[in-house]
Parts: sequence; C-alpha cells; structure tokens
Amino acid sequence: MDKTDLILQGGGMPAPLQLSVPSGGLLIDPLRELVRDGQLPLYWRCGQGTCGACLVHLQHAGQPGLLSMGGKERNVLARKQMLTEAERQADRLPDTPALPRLACHVVLVPGVLKVHW
Ligand code: FES
Repeated sequence: MDKTDLILQGGGMPAPLQLSVPSGGLLIDPLRELVRDGQLPLYWRCGQGTCGACLVHLQHAGQPGLLSMGGKERNVLARKQMLTEAERQADRLPDTPALPRLACHVVLVPGVLKVHW
C-alpha cells in the first residue's frame, strides 16, 4: 500500500509531528484523530469541507505546478476571502505553498507532504 509521509507543524508547535499514513484518503482524516488525541493544535469544525476551519498550506515535490481545485473548496475559500473572484473561477490555480487549502479536500498522494498552518 502506498504511503504519504506527513510533516505537520502549526499552532505554535515547537517541532513538527511526523507520521506515515495510507495514501488515497483525505488529509483531514488522520489530522482529526491527532487533534482529538491532543497531539495536534489544529482547529477543525465540520469535517465535511464546508466551514473552512481546516485551512492549511502544503509543500510537496510536485510544486510549483498547476492544481485543479474542486468548486466546493474554491467557493469556501472565496467566501473566507482566501481566494479572489478570479481565482474562484479559474480552472487551475498555481500549486505553491502560498495557496490556501482545506484539509477536508486534500487527497493524500504518495510521497512527502509538509502541512503548515
Ligand atoms: S473542518 Fe470544515 S472545511 Fe474542513
């Protein structure tokens, strides 16, 4: 089974938390469990991709590139004023660490994924 190596840091954590999880799922799933266990200071609320609470930034080997972001994620980010109207309507967005993402919408691909917030 393919693995995604997560390197997680944010919320004033003094050092990153690293773990390997199966690829193919959504980023929010392993994060939610870590938050519940008190190991990760990341705020999330709906877990459904609609509230925008799980805002993160990502770094991975495929950057820089272009990303096809789903309409639901684009709409939530635009509502939170994290994307402009032009970005909300774009077919593809520049995939860089500056691009805001919602952990509820990020599909884990094999490789190393740095997540910060
Ligand atoms: S927790 Fe609501 S969008 Fe992720």
